Amino acid sequence: MPTQPGLFTPVKIGSLELPNRIVMSPMTRIRADEGCVPSERMVRYYSQRASAGLIITEGTHPSPMGRGYTFPPGLHTDEQATAWRKVTDAVHAAGGCIFVQLMHAGRVSHSSLLPNQALPVAPSAIAIEGNIHTFDGKHPFEIPRALTTEEIPTVIQEYRRAAELSIKAGFDGVELHAATGYLPNQFQVTGSNRRTDAYGGSLEKRTRFTLEVMEALCDVRGADRVGIKIAPGFTVNDTFDDDPAETYTYLARCLNQLGLAYLHVGYDSGYSRGTPPPFNPVDLLRPIYAGTLLAVGGFDKASGEAAIGAGRADLVVYGRPFISNPDLVDRFKNNWPLAPLAPTSDWYSHIGDKGYTDFPIYQS
Ligand SMILES: Cc1cc2nc3c(=O)[nH]c(=O)nc-3n(C[C@H](O)[C@H](O)[C@H](O)COP(=O)(O)O)c2cc1C
Repeated sequence: MPTQPGLFTPVKIGSLELPNRIVMSPMTRIRADEGCVPSERMVRYYSQRASAGLIITEGTHPSPMGRGYTFPPGLHTDEQATAWRKVTDAVHAAGGCIFVQLMHAGRVSHSSLLPNQALPVAPSAIAIEGNIHTFDGKHPFEIPRALTTEEIPTVIQEYRRAAELSIKAGFDGVELHAATGYLPNQFQVTGSNRRTDAYGGSLEKRTRFTLEVMEALCDVRGADRVGIKIAPGFTVNDTFDDDPAETYTYLARCLNQLGLAYLHVGYDSGYSRGTPPPFNPVDLLRPIYAGTLLAVGGFDKASGEAAIGAGRADLVVYGRPFISNPDLVDRFKNNWPLAPLAPTSDWYSHIGDKGYTDFPIYQS
């Protein structure tokens, strides 16, 4: 009888052979240098974690208007691509594989972070309730400027250019961040998209932006080097939808046509604002999505093994455990204890190695 696959069963995603099914989750850590250029510290951080079957980088903006934080990395200049190359070279030298997550913040931003103090852009002029962290502390979210129909191809072109730069930067592939209220997700859901043009209204029109971006990324990288992250039903960043189950099953059906490297279904595990959906997103989409499925959200070793063994997911994505356990893969393999989760105060601190590259590997 064939044995069930588990976390340590090698797997192919697209054309890439991965030695294990443990994926490091995209995690914003605010450690880039001035100009949103990846730092030397980031080279160390990612290479320390290269034993993951696949690393997905933190959210990386494809254009200056896509920036949403104080010190995130970007991928829209040659300087950024050259600095990312040091990260990817170090990960590859350590035997790893790395995709860049392209994250356009849209309305999850602030004019003080954007060129010429421009207002953030979004499908519609609807502000998020609450505050955003800026260089001079917290400020209420602003009412964003609605993109005109004519501007949308330019935004898609920016994603395309970032995908081109991802080749120069040495990435094995790209992931579109279409989850948790960032720009593609803002188009998908009824709460943030009140447009009446070809990009809003019906389900098909709300989904169009995401699919056009995906087509551009696939065109540049080949579909087998492109993934997408979605978080069906989560309301973080005011991601409200009249019928999330319908919206995301429709989207998953459309994604079936593309032949992607993977669909990454993220549901967070209560670390952020918002309420969880009334359904399990992984179980909702598994019967619908025909390709490789990555599941994320609150997994440990046992639940990850169980999810793969039961066929609920093909690979399991770990976020917070990777922050304090650079050698998470070895710890799982040898049943070594895990270091406690890092304090949230270290997640986004810009200065220093503390809580970033100073976590030791396990010493028995
Ligand atoms: C510090 C931190 C930063 C995060 N930044 C991102 C991000 O840039 N892009 C993204 O898709 N998800 C981001 N997430 C969500 C994680 O990728 C993941 O979905 C979530 O932490 C649940 O996985 P876990 O329970 O294993 O931590 C972040 C999570 C944390 C803790």
